[in-house]
Amino acid sequence: MTSTLIRGRTLSFNRAPESINDSAAYAYESDGALLVENGVIKACGPYATVNTAAPEGVEEIDHRPHLIVPGFIDTHLHFPQMQVMASYAANLLEWLNTYTFPEECRFVETAHAERIARHFFDEMVRHGTTTATAYCSVHKASVDAFFAESLRRGTCMVAGKVMMDRNAPQGLLDTPEMSYDETRAVIADWHGRGRNHVAITPRFAITSTPEQMEAAKSLVREFPDLHVQTHLSENRDEIAFTCELYPEAKDYTDVYARYGLLGRKSLFGHCIHLSEREADAMSETGSVAVFCPTSNLFLGSGLFPLHDLTRRAKPVRVAVASDIGGGTSYSMLKTLDEAYKVVQLQGERLNPFDSFYMMTRGNAEALSLENRIGTLEPGSDADLTVLDMAATPAMALRAEVVNSLADELFLLQTMGDDRSIVETYVAGKPAKSTLDIA
Ligand code: GUN
Ligand code: ZN
Repeated sequence: MTSTLIRGRTLSFNRAPESINDSAAYAYESDGALLVENGVIKACGPYATVNTAAPEGVEEIDHRPHLIVPGFIDTHLHFPQMQVMASYAANLLEWLNTYTFPEECRFVETAHAERIARHFFDEMVRHGTTTATAYCSVHKASVDAFFAESLRRGTCMVAGKVMMDRNAPQGLLDTPEMSYDETRAVIADWHGRGRNHVAITPRFAITSTPEQMEAAKSLVREFPDLHVQTHLSENRDEIAFTCELYPEAKDYTDVYARYGLLGRKSLFGHCIHLSEREADAMSETGSVAVFCPTSNLFLGSGLFPLHDLTRRAKPVRVAVASDIGGGTSYSMLKTLDEAYKVVQLQGERLNPFDSFYMMTRGNAEALSLENRIGTLEPGSDADLTVLDMAATPAMALRAEVVNSLADELFLLQTMGDDRSIVETYVAGKPAKSTLDIA
């Protein structure tokens, strides 16, 4: 048995904070520690208490004065789009057709998929992200490369083979039968292997025929516990085209509802322009709307109505994500920095406790994985991120006048990035400091 005592200031949420003063929503220890055994958190609390419970001769890692939080969770991104980031396009559909689809065609090559997967996991660890919900490409080789790398790194990942059979280049199309058979093969090969979870992944209604949507429906019926991920209501032209392709549906959300794709394990990227009826349908089914602020701004898609969705009579579950490569940063700190500005522009506030809740426990709850990740609760997997609010000269100067935890979190979110990540632990093992030798 390997035991490690990890010392530092610790912060973990037990529920969503109701305000910036809601200190009952989290546990904070100014001299805290975690006892980690075989990749699992055995104890978390004041150093003096946890140290007493630790076995004789336990290895101790001292991160003081840094802040230890649960590893960040990114609930929507595309691993084959690492080389699409920063592509100059007027809007979503132009960006997809000009850059994204041609780039994803390259993932038919196993060697390319494996190379990008290695880079992808390096970037995740570098930015303190320990779980991501990822789209692979249409090619099964891309999914195999992704999950094999995840297994090697010991990460908890959710990912799927993209199902798409129209409105894209030939090299990126499957058929309803292929998408069904290959998703089943991916489930058989990878679901539950290590910490891997498979998501049923129809890209979006525009790139799936009704026959393929039927295949997705069959998969969801056969595997009701699996996550489902797709895109919804990101861009006005996308919405209009979808409604043309599915004229019998009441609206965009109804396209997915008709194929049984709404539910508590279903994650819908973007959801910027939902009608009240659509938001009701999301709420009633427990479906999750995923806020992708850097991507929504970069592609000019619009402002995600965060509080309109969460504070309505029928609230919608929400999560937050980078949406690489529409998104412009791998960093969940930068992602929440942009989320803050999007909320500001709507005359509302996003307080720093809410931000840190969202990138940890909140996203874990959105994935229904809060019993395994997203907190420092005993019994959870020991995925941790260690943060330095004085990581750069400019941050150090600003940190001189920080005098509360709220200020520190807000500084980290506003000025921080990968340089603020001192260490990332994956299942109890230091993963960032060991990157070069991984
Ligand atoms: N809609 C369908 N595919 C995509 C994608 O790859 N990125 C984004 N942002 N939206 C999409
Ligand atoms: Zn996306």
